Amino acid sequence: MVVTESIRLRSYLFNYPVTRPRRLRSNVLIRNMVAETMLRPDDFIMPIFVREDINEPEPIKSLPGQYRWPLNDELLNFVDQLVSSGVRSVILFGIPEHKDEWGSSAYDEHGIIQRTIRFLKDSFEDKLIVMADVCLCEYTDHGHCGIVKRLPDGKYVVDNDSTIELYAKTAVTYAEAGVDVVAPSGMMDGQVKAIREALDRAGFSDVAIMAYSAKYASSFYGPFREAAASAPKFGDRRSYQMDPRNAHEALKEVAMDINEGADIVMVKPAMLYLDVIRLVKQNFPEVPLAAYQVSGEYAMLKAAIMNGWLDERKAVLESLIAIRRAGADLIITYFAKDVVNYLDEIEKLF
Ligand code: PBG
Repeated sequence: MVVTESIRLRSYLFNYPVTRPRRLRSNVLIRNMVAETMLRPDDFIMPIFVREDINEPEPIKSLPGQYRWPLNDELLNFVDQLVSSGVRSVILFGIPEHKDEWGSSAYDEHGIIQRTIRFLKDSFEDKLIVMADVCLCEYTDHGHCGIVKRLPDGKYVVDNDSTIELYAKTAVTYAEAGVDVVAPSGMMDGQVKAIREALDRAGFSDVAIMAYSAKYASSFYGPFREAAASAPKFGDRRSYQMDPRNAHEALKEVAMDINEGADIVMVKPAMLYLDVIRLVKQNFPEVPLAAYQVSGEYAMLKAAIMNGWLDERKAVLESLIAIRRAGADLIITYFAKDVVNYLDEIEKLF
């Protein structure tokens, strides 16, 4: 493989100046003709935070331009704008009024996400794909993604097997509300299998699973945790999320999730893990791959844009093209709402 590539490269070099790449860069038409990477509105998934105890949208300080939405017409108008500008899909995150040790609001059939799914599916029917994140961290008072077991020596563990049962329960209540896709993000082992079995048993074999397969223990989730009030009160998530030093381990996580029934797999974050996106796509080209441009990646770009240090449209498009070029089929991004309005500028800006 390596040998063939180097022979091919050398033959190009020997042929200089017959090979002149600049010929295909001389004007915008020719650049567009040979462009390898495209972005379509269908590629994007817009994250939406819905909060239980508010009536007006609340700006999220660390995510300029993003809001926590109340479950009322404000949300409806916002989603209506999304749909009319071409966004086909949203992923929901809930901020409940009540939190407890077991995250019981997550699997309450009248919980904030269950009600939001019903509301959106009633209003938009087949015009919108409704996805919902399945995790406990927004619903537990301690902020961990699962059930915390205290050990006699004062330490604690986030218990895998009791947690995945609660994920399965949550997914079934989302399915009952009409969700199209559930997205388990807690990084517990066996979570996809537990959810798939529970959905099938309850008669929801058509509900798809988008698995957060290679989700890293990243500092770039900071703004999200502020937005969703979901930062752990003690400890951190390193005992369940992946170590940023590992790339190949992502293949094990992805393989397991596919084997357990994941329909779409995910790498998260995106811009800092382009190598992982490439690795996963090369090894599992047949499975749709999503990448999550996370809150910290959005905040980082936004901060520079707001300071006038980066050009918004060029920088945002370049970041999204990079994620697609690396191999992602779908991109979850807080820019989804705006970027679909200027996708046609790709052909002028590049
Ligand atoms: C829930 C979840 C998180 C994100 C998506 N789902 C937070 C976390 O794992 O701490 C982060 C998304 C973002 O930063 O934009 N587990």
